[in-house]
Amino acid sequence: MALTIGILTVSDRASRGEYEDRGGPAIRDWLSAALAVEWSAVPQIVPDERDEIETALRAMCDQSNCCLVLTTGGTGPSPRDVTPEATEAVCQRMMPGFGECMRAASLQIVPTAILSRQVAGTRGQSLIINLPGKPSAVAECLDAVFAAIPYCIDLIGGDRLETDPSVCPIFRPDQRS
Ligand code: MTE
Repeated sequence: MALTIGILTVSDRASRGEYEDRGGPAIRDWLSAALAVEWSAVPQIVPDERDEIETALRAMCDQSNCCLVLTTGGTGPSPRDVTPEATEAVCQRMMPGFGECMRAASLQIVPTAILSRQVAGTRGQSLIINLPGKPSAVAECLDAVFAAIPYCIDLIGGDRLETDPSVCPIFRPDQRS
């Protein structure tokens, strides 16, 4: 069976159909270009409501067995932005390096990258990572951290991810040394 990756778009307007979801497709496009394993997406769009985000994240991890869940949107400072709070609520352990690295890399591109409160953490054998809502930010953040994602998922007992090294090289420390 193909491994599954959750793609959760968090947006009031996209969930009401007033606005076309562009963050979710940007994640799917990036993964389709980079991954060299059979995989299927578990996509969902929810409004900026903490309980709905938490319910979707739990289902992707616990029912759909997604080894990786990527969210897009709701990471900023506006009162409706609650994706990081929902992510922290469902994670058993936080992985602060991902947020730090994505902000640092994004700051080289845009000064307002500092406004994203994006976090990452693990729930069982799943790694959850927040990405900003802007499609270009999705790619900029995945470019910055994806090299470390497969080994992180190895360490929590999740599915083995492989990439096309010409698109996105990954790093696994040599287990023999
Ligand atoms: N990160 C990157 N790489 N590129 C961007 O354009 N936009 C920033 C920031 N991070 C941005 C970025 C802006 S303007 C905001 S408000 C925050 O992400 C939060 O975005 P979100 O609420 O859509 O998650």
